[in-house]
Amino acid sequence: MSEAVRRYNRGARALHWLIAAMVIANLASGLLNDAFEDVIRVIPTHKAIGMTVLALTMVRIAWRFTWTHPPYPGTVTRAQALCARLVQGLFYGLMLAMPVTGWIMASAGKYPLSWFGLFDLPKLDVARTDLAYLVGREAHEILGWLFVALVILHVAAALRHHFILRDDVLRSMA
Ligand code: HEM
Ligand code: HEM
Repeated sequence: MSEAVRRYNRGARALHWLIAAMVIANLASGLLNDAFEDVIRVIPTHKAIGMTVLALTMVRIAWRFTWTHPPYPGTVTRAQALCARLVQGLFYGLMLAMPVTGWIMASAGKYPLSWFGLFDLPKLDVARTDLAYLVGREAHEILGWLFVALVILHVAAALRHHFILRDDVLRSMA
Protein backbone atom coordinates (compact mmCIF):
# COMPACT_ATOMS: atom_id res chain seq x y z
CA MET A 1 0.00 0.00 0.00
CA SER A 2 1.34 3.44 -0.85
CA GLU A 3 2.23 5.79 2.00
CA ALA A 4 -0.96 7.83 2.22
CA VAL A 5 -4.10 6.45 0.58
CA ARG A 6 -6.63 9.28 0.18
CA ARG A 7 -9.75 7.54 1.43
CA TYR A 8 -13.41 8.40 1.38
CA ASN A 9 -14.37 9.79 4.79
CA ARG A 10 -15.56 7.41 7.50
CA GLY A 11 -19.25 8.21 7.11
CA ALA A 12 -19.13 7.80 3.32
CA ARG A 13 -17.46 4.41 3.71
CA ALA A 14 -19.93 3.25 6.35
CA LEU A 15 -22.93 4.30 4.26
CA HIS A 16 -21.44 2.81 1.09
CA TRP A 17 -21.00 -0.66 2.59
CA LEU A 18 -24.21 -0.65 4.63
CA ILE A 19 -26.34 0.36 1.64
CA ALA A 20 -24.39 -1.94 -0.73
CA ALA A 21 -25.14 -4.93 1.53
CA MET A 22 -28.83 -4.04 1.71
CA VAL A 23 -29.11 -3.44 -2.05
CA ILE A 24 -27.42 -6.76 -2.84
CA ALA A 25 -29.69 -8.54 -0.32
CA ASN A 26 -32.74 -6.98 -1.98
CA LEU A 27 -31.66 -7.71 -5.55
CA ALA A 28 -31.13 -11.33 -4.52
CA SER A 29 -34.34 -11.68 -2.49
CA GLY A 30 -36.39 -9.91 -5.19
CA LEU A 31 -35.12 -12.11 -7.98
CA LEU A 32 -35.17 -15.35 -5.97
CA ASN A 33 -38.59 -14.62 -4.48
CA ASP A 34 -40.42 -16.78 -7.01
CA ALA A 35 -38.14 -19.75 -6.35
CA PHE A 36 -38.45 -19.53 -2.55
CA GLU A 37 -42.04 -18.41 -2.29
CA ASP A 38 -43.23 -21.75 -0.90
CA VAL A 39 -40.31 -22.13 1.49
CA ILE A 40 -39.87 -18.75 3.12
CA ARG A 41 -41.69 -15.43 2.89
CA VAL A 42 -38.91 -12.98 2.05
CA ILE A 43 -40.98 -10.07 0.78
CA PRO A 44 -41.86 -8.47 4.18
CA THR A 45 -38.12 -8.28 4.99
CA HIS A 46 -37.40 -7.15 1.42
CA LYS A 47 -39.84 -4.26 1.87
CA ALA A 48 -38.41 -3.21 5.24
CA ILE A 49 -34.82 -3.32 3.93
CA GLY A 50 -35.86 -1.35 0.84
CA MET A 51 -37.55 1.38 2.86
CA THR A 52 -34.39 1.62 5.01
CA VAL A 53 -32.32 2.05 1.83
CA LEU A 54 -34.61 4.93 0.83
CA ALA A 55 -34.14 6.75 4.14
CA LEU A 56 -30.37 6.19 4.25
CA THR A 57 -29.95 7.22 0.60
CA MET A 58 -31.71 10.54 1.18
CA VAL A 59 -29.32 11.25 4.04
CA ARG A 60 -26.39 10.06 1.92
CA ILE A 61 -27.24 12.28 -1.07
CA ALA A 62 -27.86 15.40 1.03
CA TRP A 63 -24.57 14.87 2.80
CA ARG A 64 -22.73 14.00 -0.45
CA PHE A 65 -22.93 17.68 -1.45
CA THR A 66 -20.70 18.63 1.48
CA TRP A 67 -17.52 16.78 0.44
CA THR A 68 -15.51 15.84 -2.66
CA HIS A 69 -14.28 12.35 -3.48
CA PRO A 70 -10.58 11.44 -3.21
CA PRO A 71 -8.55 11.91 -6.43
CA TYR A 72 -7.95 8.96 -8.77
CA PRO A 73 -4.46 7.61 -9.38
CA GLY A 74 -2.75 9.27 -12.37
CA THR A 75 -3.21 6.12 -14.48
CA VAL A 76 -7.01 6.59 -14.59
CA THR A 77 -7.98 8.39 -17.80
CA ARG A 78 -10.57 11.16 -17.99
CA ALA A 79 -12.91 8.86 -19.90
CA GLN A 80 -12.61 6.12 -17.26
CA ALA A 81 -13.24 8.60 -14.45
CA LEU A 82 -16.29 9.94 -16.27
CA CYS A 83 -17.60 6.43 -16.82
CA ALA A 84 -17.16 5.58 -13.13
CA ARG A 85 -18.95 8.76 -12.07
CA LEU A 86 -21.77 8.09 -14.51
CA VAL A 87 -22.36 4.60 -13.08
CA GLN A 88 -22.18 5.98 -9.53
CA GLY A 89 -24.64 8.75 -10.43
CA LEU A 90 -27.02 6.14 -11.81
CA PHE A 91 -26.63 4.21 -8.55
CA TYR A 92 -27.87 7.20 -6.56
CA GLY A 93 -30.91 7.38 -8.89
CA LEU A 94 -31.57 3.65 -8.58
CA MET A 95 -31.16 3.70 -4.80
CA LEU A 96 -34.13 6.11 -4.80
CA ALA A 97 -36.13 4.72 -7.73
CA MET A 98 -36.13 1.09 -6.57
CA PRO A 99 -37.59 1.80 -3.11
CA VAL A 100 -40.06 4.38 -4.44
CA THR A 101 -41.45 2.06 -7.15
CA GLY A 102 -41.54 -0.77 -4.59
CA TRP A 103 -43.39 1.48 -2.14
CA ILE A 104 -45.95 2.37 -4.84
CA MET A 105 -46.43 -1.31 -5.67
CA ALA A 106 -46.71 -2.42 -2.03
CA SER A 107 -49.14 0.41 -1.24
CA ALA A 108 -51.69 -1.09 -3.62
CA GLY A 109 -51.51 -4.47 -1.84
CA LYS A 110 -53.54 -5.62 1.13
CA TYR A 111 -50.69 -6.21 3.57
CA PRO A 112 -49.53 -3.52 6.03
CA LEU A 113 -46.10 -2.04 5.30
CA SER A 114 -44.29 -3.16 8.44
CA TRP A 115 -40.75 -2.14 9.36
CA PHE A 116 -39.33 -5.46 10.63
CA GLY A 117 -42.50 -6.03 12.66
CA LEU A 118 -41.75 -3.03 14.89
CA PHE A 119 -44.12 -0.43 13.42
CA ASP A 120 -46.09 0.25 10.26
CA LEU A 121 -44.94 2.72 7.62
CA PRO A 122 -47.54 4.82 5.80
CA LYS A 123 -48.89 3.51 2.51
CA LEU A 124 -49.37 5.73 -0.54
CA ASP A 125 -52.82 6.27 -2.00
CA VAL A 126 -52.52 3.82 -4.92
CA ALA A 127 -54.92 1.16 -6.20
CA ARG A 128 -54.10 -1.87 -8.36
CA THR A 129 -56.03 -0.28 -11.24
CA ASP A 130 -53.96 2.94 -11.18
CA LEU A 131 -51.39 3.66 -13.87
CA ALA A 132 -48.90 4.45 -11.08
CA TYR A 133 -49.16 0.85 -9.87
CA LEU A 134 -48.65 -0.65 -13.33
CA VAL A 135 -45.72 1.65 -14.15
CA GLY A 136 -44.23 1.15 -10.67
CA ARG A 137 -44.38 -2.64 -10.97
CA GLU A 138 -42.83 -2.72 -14.45
CA ALA A 139 -40.17 -0.16 -13.50
CA HIS A 140 -39.28 -2.10 -10.34
CA GLU A 141 -38.51 -5.17 -12.44
CA ILE A 142 -36.71 -3.44 -15.34
CA LEU A 143 -34.66 -1.13 -13.11
CA GLY A 144 -33.85 -4.15 -10.93
CA TRP A 145 -32.12 -5.82 -13.89
CA LEU A 146 -30.32 -2.58 -14.79
CA PHE A 147 -29.14 -2.38 -11.18
CA VAL A 148 -27.81 -5.96 -11.31
CA ALA A 149 -25.88 -5.23 -14.52
CA LEU A 150 -24.35 -2.02 -13.15
CA VAL A 151 -23.39 -3.64 -9.84
CA ILE A 152 -21.54 -6.38 -11.76
CA LEU A 153 -19.72 -3.68 -13.78
CA HIS A 154 -18.93 -1.60 -10.67
CA VAL A 155 -17.61 -4.59 -8.69
CA ALA A 156 -15.60 -5.88 -11.67
CA ALA A 157 -14.00 -2.43 -12.03
CA ALA A 158 -13.19 -2.28 -8.31
CA LEU A 159 -11.59 -5.74 -8.38
CA ARG A 160 -9.66 -4.92 -11.57
CA HIS A 161 -8.17 -1.84 -9.90
CA HIS A 162 -7.19 -3.85 -6.86
CA PHE A 163 -5.89 -7.11 -8.28
CA ILE A 164 -4.80 -6.28 -11.83
CA LEU A 165 -3.85 -2.60 -11.84
CA ARG A 166 -2.87 -2.82 -8.16
CA ASP A 167 -3.74 0.80 -7.42
CA ASP A 168 -5.50 2.39 -4.42
CA VAL A 169 -9.04 2.80 -5.81
CA LEU A 170 -10.58 -0.02 -3.75
CA ARG A 171 -8.56 0.97 -0.68
CA SER A 172 -10.02 4.46 -0.92
CA MET A 173 -13.41 2.92 -0.05
CA ALA A 174 -12.12 0.24 2.36
C1 HEM B 1 -33.03 -1.12 -2.71
C2 HEM B 1 -34.28 -1.32 -2.85
C3 HEM B 1 -34.91 -2.44 -3.63
C4 HEM B 1 -34.37 -3.29 -4.56
C5 HEM B 1 -32.94 -3.33 -5.08
C6 HEM B 1 -35.44 -4.18 -4.99
C7 HEM B 1 -35.31 -5.18 -5.96
C8 HEM B 1 -36.32 -6.01 -6.38
C9 HEM B 1 -36.21 -6.98 -7.44
C10 HEM B 1 -34.96 -7.19 -8.31
C11 HEM B 1 -37.40 -7.63 -7.54
C12 HEM B 1 -37.80 -8.73 -8.54
C13 HEM B 1 -38.54 -8.07 -9.67
C14 HEM B 1 -39.38 -9.03 -10.44
O1 HEM B 1 -38.86 -10.04 -10.92
O2 HEM B 1 -40.59 -8.76 -10.55
C15 HEM B 1 -38.27 -7.10 -6.52
C16 HEM B 1 -39.57 -7.53 -6.28
C17 HEM B 1 -40.41 -6.95 -5.36
N1 HEM B 1 -40.14 -5.83 -4.58
FE1 HEM B 1 -38.39 -4.85 -4.46
N2 HEM B 1 -36.60 -3.87 -4.32
C18 HEM B 1 -36.32 -2.81 -3.48
C19 HEM B 1 -37.20 -2.17 -2.63
C20 HEM B 1 -38.52 -2.52 -2.45
C21 HEM B 1 -39.44 -1.84 -1.57
C22 HEM B 1 -39.13 -0.62 -0.71
C23 HEM B 1 -40.63 -2.49 -1.67
C24 HEM B 1 -41.94 -2.21 -0.98
C25 HEM B 1 -42.12 -1.39 0.00
C26 HEM B 1 -40.45 -3.59 -2.61
C27 HEM B 1 -41.44 -4.50 -2.96
C28 HEM B 1 -41.27 -5.55 -3.83
C29 HEM B 1 -42.32 -6.54 -4.11
C30 HEM B 1 -43.71 -6.58 -3.49
C31 HEM B 1 -41.76 -7.42 -5.07
C32 HEM B 1 -42.42 -8.66 -5.67
C33 HEM B 1 -43.05 -8.34 -6.97
C34 HEM B 1 -43.72 -9.58 -7.54
O3 HEM B 1 -43.05 -10.61 -7.69
O4 HEM B 1 -44.88 -9.46 -7.83
N3 HEM B 1 -39.16 -3.57 -3.08
N4 HEM B 1 -37.59 -6.11 -5.84
C1 HEM C 1 -25.09 -2.68 -4.70
C2 HEM C 1 -23.92 -2.43 -4.37
C3 HEM C 1 -23.20 -1.11 -4.49
C4 HEM C 1 -23.64 0.16 -4.70
C5 HEM C 1 -25.09 0.63 -4.86
C6 HEM C 1 -22.48 1.02 -4.74
C7 HEM C 1 -22.51 2.40 -4.93
C8 HEM C 1 -21.42 3.22 -4.99
C9 HEM C 1 -21.45 4.65 -5.17
C10 HEM C 1 -22.73 5.48 -5.32
C11 HEM C 1 -20.18 5.09 -5.17
C12 HEM C 1 -19.72 6.55 -5.34
C13 HEM C 1 -19.46 7.22 -4.02
C14 HEM C 1 -19.38 8.71 -4.23
O1 HEM C 1 -18.32 9.22 -4.62
O2 HEM C 1 -20.40 9.37 -4.03
C15 HEM C 1 -19.32 3.94 -5.00
C16 HEM C 1 -17.95 3.97 -4.97
C17 HEM C 1 -17.14 2.87 -4.86
N1 HEM C 1 -17.56 1.55 -4.70
FE1 HEM C 1 -19.44 0.91 -4.63
N2 HEM C 1 -21.36 0.25 -4.55
C18 HEM C 1 -21.76 -1.06 -4.40
C19 HEM C 1 -20.96 -2.16 -4.17
C20 HEM C 1 -19.59 -2.15 -4.18
C21 HEM C 1 -18.74 -3.30 -4.00
C22 HEM C 1 -19.24 -4.73 -3.73
C23 HEM C 1 -17.45 -2.85 -4.13
C24 HEM C 1 -16.15 -3.63 -4.05
C25 HEM C 1 -15.97 -4.83 -4.49
C26 HEM C 1 -17.49 -1.42 -4.33
C27 HEM C 1 -16.40 -0.60 -4.47
C28 HEM C 1 -16.44 0.75 -4.63
C29 HEM C 1 -15.25 1.58 -4.77
C30 HEM C 1 -13.81 1.10 -4.78
C31 HEM C 1 -15.69 2.90 -4.89
C32 HEM C 1 -14.82 4.15 -5.11
C33 HEM C 1 -14.69 4.28 -6.61
C34 HEM C 1 -14.40 5.65 -7.08
O3 HEM C 1 -13.89 6.51 -6.33
O4 HEM C 1 -14.71 5.88 -8.28
N3 HEM C 1 -18.82 -1.03 -4.37
N4 HEM C 1 -20.09 2.81 -4.89
